[in-house]
Amino acid sequence: MSKITKSAAKERIEQLRKEINGHNYNYYVLNAPVISDFEFDLMLQELASLEKMFPEFASPDSPTVKVGSDIAKAPSESGNERKVFEFATRTHRYPMLSLGNTYSREELSEFSDRIAKTVQEPCCYSCELKFDGTAICLTYKNGRLAYAVTRGDGVKGDDVTANMLTIKSIPQTLAGDSYPDEFEIRGEIYMPFEAFNRLNAEREEIDERPFANPRNAASGSLKLQDSGEVATRGLACVLYHMLGENLPFSTHSEAIAAAKSWGLPVSEHSRVVDSIEEVYNYIDYWDTERRKLPFPIDGIVIKVNRLDWQKKLGYTAKSPRWATAYKFKPDRALTELLSIDYQVGRTGAITPVANLDPVPLSGTIVKRASLHNKDQMDLLDIRIGDFVYVEKGGEIIPKITEVDLAKRPAHATVPVFPRYCPDCGAELVRDEGQAKHYCPNSNNCPVQIKSGFVHFISRKAMDILAGEATIDQLYEKGYIRHLSDLYSLTKEQLVSLDGWKDRSAENLLASLEKSKSVPFNRVFYALGIRHVGEANAKLLTAHFGSIDAIMAADRDALVQIDEVGDIMADSIIKWFADPVNREQVEKLRAAGLKFEQEKTKKVSNTLSGGIFVVSGVFSVSRDEIKQFIESHGGKTTSSVSGHTSYLVTGEAPGAEKLKKAEKLGTKIITEEQLRALVE
Ligand code: IVH
Repeated sequence: MSKITKSAAKERIEQLRKEINGHNYNYYVLNAPVISDFEFDLMLQELASLEKMFPEFASPDSPTVKVGSDIAKAPSESGNERKVFEFATRTHRYPMLSLGNTYSREELSEFSDRIAKTVQEPCCYSCELKFDGTAICLTYKNGRLAYAVTRGDGVKGDDVTANMLTIKSIPQTLAGDSYPDEFEIRGEIYMPFEAFNRLNAEREEIDERPFANPRNAASGSLKLQDSGEVATRGLACVLYHMLGENLPFSTHSEAIAAAKSWGLPVSEHSRVVDSIEEVYNYIDYWDTERRKLPFPIDGIVIKVNRLDWQKKLGYTAKSPRWATAYKFKPDRALTELLSIDYQVGRTGAITPVANLDPVPLSGTIVKRASLHNKDQMDLLDIRIGDFVYVEKGGEIIPKITEVDLAKRPAHATVPVFPRYCPDCGAELVRDEGQAKHYCPNSNNCPVQIKSGFVHFISRKAMDILAGEATIDQLYEKGYIRHLSDLYSLTKEQLVSLDGWKDRSAENLLASLEKSKSVPFNRVFYALGIRHVGEANAKLLTAHFGSIDAIMAADRDALVQIDEVGDIMADSIIKWFADPVNREQVEKLRAAGLKFEQEKTKKVSNTLSGGIFVVSGVFSVSRDEIKQFIESHGGKTTSSVSGHTSYLVTGEAPGAEKLKKAEKLGTKIITEEQLRALVE
């Protein structure tokens, strides 16, 4: 590095900045990092040292100076399409900075030397866990939560107050009366492993992309538009930094103890120590104990405890000089790549999966790892027989992060990504802009057909009492090829299957009969249209009301729904364009399945003629409030206009809707007032 020429340094600096900015975007905006934190930090370190060597190339726009931004312009969770989310942005009263970080003890001792130089006295440190989530800033005014704002670009962030209120540990009003009139408290929203595993299992089941790790799941969940959905995500919060004018504390730990006494969630694991040696002990302890924690941490934060010293030490453009983070290296293991399988998914997507020489990693034996897609394989330049590093990083299936090129054996062979479907032999296709290859033979590819049935009968779809083994049996016998075949199965056919008796046959037939009363939204989801998950099926069926209306909808009509983007719309249109699918819909309809939204039962006509917009978090779900209105003859729409009679607001309603209603003089009522209208 010391021999680098000026022009080479300039080129490398530009390249690093570009790459780092790209990774910042993947991490903060898309919630989908493609490299590990460790690799990212290495790139940032290289850039910082080059900028130090060649100060003439310094720039205020460099990622070494700027904080990454999470302001929501992210794709929706289910399609891959870009959608601009609608959170109001709010400017931070004090900029929200990041922390300097290090993976080495030497740098930590340099940190403590720098502090000793400034304060000239022995220093007490607060040692804390570095929670691996997404930063949040809460403002309390007169004991009430006024707003919750994400870090954003450090200067302004997204106002996510409504979503924050769904987190049980966050008090809307503080306990006692000793709190300042106004203060801010910052912390981390994170997702405990249990909630993360549950969420990803659900997403896999409904063919939605699982989150890479709990941190992405937390920040993705915090930015959902539907607070009701956020409430189901099991988010947690810990607060670790108080700010305000003239706060009555002399140390950070006192401020945090006070926050705790007001009912705010703080960490149980922070310790105040009085030497850097004790900081090391704290690090050593958590370096092993962290594996027993029920939530993710990625390091330790060390803060100067005295607030007057924090003030004296001050800030750089990007981070405080009075605190730093010591990060743990992610666990990884080196093992041999034995072979690669190419798996065909329900919708035909091909996923390369590595078979590994079994190796222990963080408490389990790893035998398989995902290679995601062809681009990822090319990026790793992977060969069969290579020695590869596997990392878990919270993912369900571990991933290969690096190939140890020094260990590459002479016999290593370049894997050949298949041209044809490994199951049915059809030529694979890759749509423009998509990372995955697909088998287009959806009507004849046995794996796709069978997994289509497994999806159809699953609990959240038709909830038919059968499993994969039964589907296999029925398929092998040739009894089922198309979904509608299920409804013409006979008892004779069933008892002819291996191991089947009268009783099991009757149970399956009864369950099929019962499935005819499954509501339309689940029937639509059960059809298995690519990109249409459970939540989207609900939105589409509620919006259009019947399968005929969805079939007749063009792209423009489909993308009218906020969550539906171009990719999902095209997928729906393509599905219905296939005559085989249309025929199936007709056959399923003839079998008695529901292809229309059930009309909300009319209870009264009290609200007839009224047009309502519903916004915020209520005692029941927003859908239930809407159904209540409709059951009393009212109409509901999604945006406030001159025609709106009432804006019904719960906790933390949408800022834009409120503003518009106020401007237009629309009546704004609460849930209670709505119920009173009916009475
Ligand atoms: S203090 C002025 N304490 O780590 C900086 N941060 O990589 C105040 N984090 O932006 C931050 N646990 O989102 C602090 N105990 C802790 C933390 C913590 C996690 C996050 C925070 C910060 C990031 C820096």
